[in-house]
Amino acid sequence: MTRRMRPVDLRTDAITRPTPAMLAAAGRVMPTVRTRRGSAARQLESRVAAMVGHEDAVFAPTGSTANLILLMAVRDRGELVVLEAESHLAWTEAASVARVAGLSPMLVEGSGGIVSATMVGDALDDSRLSDHRRTAAVCLETPHNLHGGRVPPPAAMAGVVAAAHSRGVHAHVDGARIVHAMVATGAPLPTLLGGADSATFGFNKGLSCPSGAVLTGRRAVIERARRDLALLGVSNQPMADIAASMCLVALDTMVERLSEDHARARSFAQGMAEVTGFRVDLAGVETNTIMLTVEPPLNAPSVVRSMAAAGLWAWAVDHRRIRAMTHRHVTDLDIEHAIVAVADAVQAGRPRATASIARGSRVQR
Ligand SMILES: Cc1ncc(COP(=O)(O)O)c(C=O)c1O
Repeated sequence: MTRRMRPVDLRTDAITRPTPAMLAAAGRVMPTVRTRRGSAARQLESRVAAMVGHEDAVFAPTGSTANLILLMAVRDRGELVVLEAESHLAWTEAASVARVAGLSPMLVEGSGGIVSATMVGDALDDSRLSDHRRTAAVCLETPHNLHGGRVPPPAAMAGVVAAAHSRGVHAHVDGARIVHAMVATGAPLPTLLGGADSATFGFNKGLSCPSGAVLTGRRAVIERARRDLALLGVSNQPMADIAASMCLVALDTMVERLSEDHARARSFAQGMAEVTGFRVDLAGVETNTIMLTVEPPLNAPSVVRSMAAAGLWAWAVDHRRIRAMTHRHVTDLDIEHAIVAVADAVQAGRPRATASIARGSRVQR
């Protein structure tokens, strides 16, 4: 294999750089101290609220912040929050959920990351039986990041939301990549959300913005979330308009092209399914994420190290799983190179492995 100079970086889509149109828009903004009516931030909030079908919205610096201010807005300290066991909120944000929002996570393990109405209903009933604590919210994630970017069926989402509502509990959707779900399924956002009360809509992943997420929901909840954002030190920030102006450009120019990332993810997954030592759930590759399961005696961290040496960067989620993500800076040729790099890495890590690879697999657009 001829070694290429530029590594193929499939660790995350959060490394995408802003486009020239975004930088030009940012350069035209005249930030004001009070970023309200008519400002780029306010325009963005209105547009996203309309897309999601919610009353109001607030612009936040990141998806984690948007999730956090939602939880702060709907809870009393010491209450519970139901999270899917491998959701981003459970894996990465649990410390701030507990320490800043003061909530106790109650984990529900979904099937392939997808929770059912019965699972959530049981969790809500059990929490009352055990210590009579109120549950502030049930949080869902779409697409499910650690389950290969799968999009939970809208009917499943609606069932969970109904189970939460029947017990008077707020339903929130973490949609850091919800726009991927929309493009992959062709379903409008309100359908994908299944009637949830609030949602986080991310801009700093495949949409290529350097920062930004919008939290949508009912007016009263968003007002509290805005206050809580200020408590975290983010208020009347003139620079929010600069970030928001880039997000507005992303809405106009970056959404449709996500289907190219999805096609490349499928291409990579199909190639990887041919490499001895890996399992890929091809049917589960719906968006830009590919979750590879490594068969013993291989283990994910050492395979990832060998892959990096061969020119492919990916992320070892744990000892068995490797996550790869396609994004705007990954080309068809990069995908071909990535498959070869993995096969090389397998052979380096296990000399007798018979790694067969599918060469020349092109992206089907
Ligand atoms: C599903 C999900 N939710 C939330 C986040 C957090 O987003 P941010 O990095 O903008 O805080 C991520 C980040 O990758 C994510 O994958």
